[in-house]
Amino acid sequence: MIAVLVLNGPNLNLLGTRQPEVYGATTLAMIENACRSHGAGLGFEVTCAQSNSEGAMIDLIHAARGAQAGIVLNAGAYTHTSVALMDAIASVEVPTIEVHLSNIHAREAFRHQSYIAPVALGQIIGFGAHGYILALDALKAHLGGGT
Ligand code: DQA
Repeated sequence: MIAVLVLNGPNLNLLGTRQPEVYGATTLAMIENACRSHGAGLGFEVTCAQSNSEGAMIDLIHAARGAQAGIVLNAGAYTHTSVALMDAIASVEVPTIEVHLSNIHAREAFRHQSYIAPVALGQIIGFGAHGYILALDALKAHLGGGT
């Protein structure tokens, strides 16, 4: 099994009750369960983590180096603010796929910029909870073995 990290950032622990008209009714626990079971079918041992703290997220990204083959990252609002997260991803050289439930380009202008994008393998945006599944498939294709 190939180890993969699914990392969610601030306020994503509230999924299901947080602005469901924007983010949907699916809870984070449901997303994480789906990632673990879909990942297993791809040969991935998926570890899920969520933090509201930028520093804790950076520590998890650092720990992924040499331990996890890829990261699926929804950095929440830190996407639009965090040079530190961008630097962490660039430093560890673990292929990282950026995910957003909502289409950030169809929303407020401040959400159009991503500090994650320049260091990500790619972005999957606007497909709700299914975006995490698409990201795992993309990671599988990137790491080899197709989908
Ligand atoms: C989000 C989009 C961000 O702009 C927002 O701050 C979030 C969630 C998304 O998944 O659509 O917290 O990352």
